[in-house]
Amino acid sequence: MIDAPAADAPVVVEIRQLWTSFPSAGGEQVVHRDLDLTIRRGEVLSLVGGSGTGKTVLLRQILGLEHPSRGEVTVLGQHPGQLGAKGAAKVGMLFQHGALFSAFSVLDNIALPLRELKLLPDDLIRDAALVKLQMVGLDPQQANKSPSALSGGMIKRVALARALIMDPPLLLLDEPTAGLDPESADGFCDLLRSLHRELGLTVVMVTHDLDTLFDLSTRIAVLADQHVIVSGLPREVIACEHPFIRNYFLGGRGLRAMEALHDVPAVAAAADPER
Ligand SMILES: Nc1ncnc2c1ncn2[C@@H]1O[C@H](COP(=O)(O)OP(=O)(O)OP(=O)(O)O)[C@@H](O)[C@H]1O
Ligand SMILES: [Mg+2]
Repeated sequence: MIDAPAADAPVVVEIRQLWTSFPSAGGEQVVHRDLDLTIRRGEVLSLVGGSGTGKTVLLRQILGLEHPSRGEVTVLGQHPGQLGAKGAAKVGMLFQHGALFSAFSVLDNIALPLRELKLLPDDLIRDAALVKLQMVGLDPQQANKSPSALSGGMIKRVALARALIMDPPLLLLDEPTAGLDPESADGFCDLLRSLHRELGLTVVMVTHDLDTLFDLSTRIAVLADQHVIVSGLPREVIACEHPFIRNYFLGGRGLRAMEALHDVPAVAAAADPER
């Protein structure tokens, strides 16, 4: 795991008493109910929860693409909706399904958020996109390729370069290693770790991948029963008696991933209270 920042580091994301509901056939589907979460500068907060528990929706609310039914989300002290065009400069997002435009080259995909702002001449925008391409470990020769000519790991890197084009202090990652083979996933985690260190980023990451989770998180928050039921270090999270947590962390896959952790005795004790 990456070391956590000081407990009094400045707050970057503050979520208070958030409710989200969508109209459904039976009336209303409540996705979030009284959800609270505070994220501080330098954290890599991983959000885990079952499918459909509202992880992606929460990231979209932090980004300002969706608005809660009730409650409050603030990013660096402002409502994401109020950040306007400047919002894109504060928050970068790697979307769950990559979301590159297939008709655009790699470089044009990375440059897109800057072009939309229409503030810089095109040669400067191209230079900025090339810098980001190299920052994510790709060769400038890839710049003119179509996304369809890239491997899964390269697509994730291009999507990451686009998320970072405005040098945002806050980066949101939705399943960054999903669909990658173990080697590419490890490479992507190494890249994220070094970017987090070099750029001083705050990261909110959704992941189902236990290796990624333990490799990168400074803190884990579990979304269940429509809110964050617990957040903390792995040993604090697994001490929580909740069926989702027992299945997720203390099933075979979870235990194998946690064997690599230094606090194995705590893990073993949680898995087998008789010990
Ligand atoms: N715009 C929308 N209109 C109606 N329902 C929605 C909308 N967006 C999301 N939902 C519903 O909200 C719930 C949470 O969706 P979300 O995509 O956040 O889940 P998730 O936790 O990211 O799941 P997964 O792990 O499968 O990606 C789902 O039941 C989804 O169908
Ligand atoms: Mg999702």
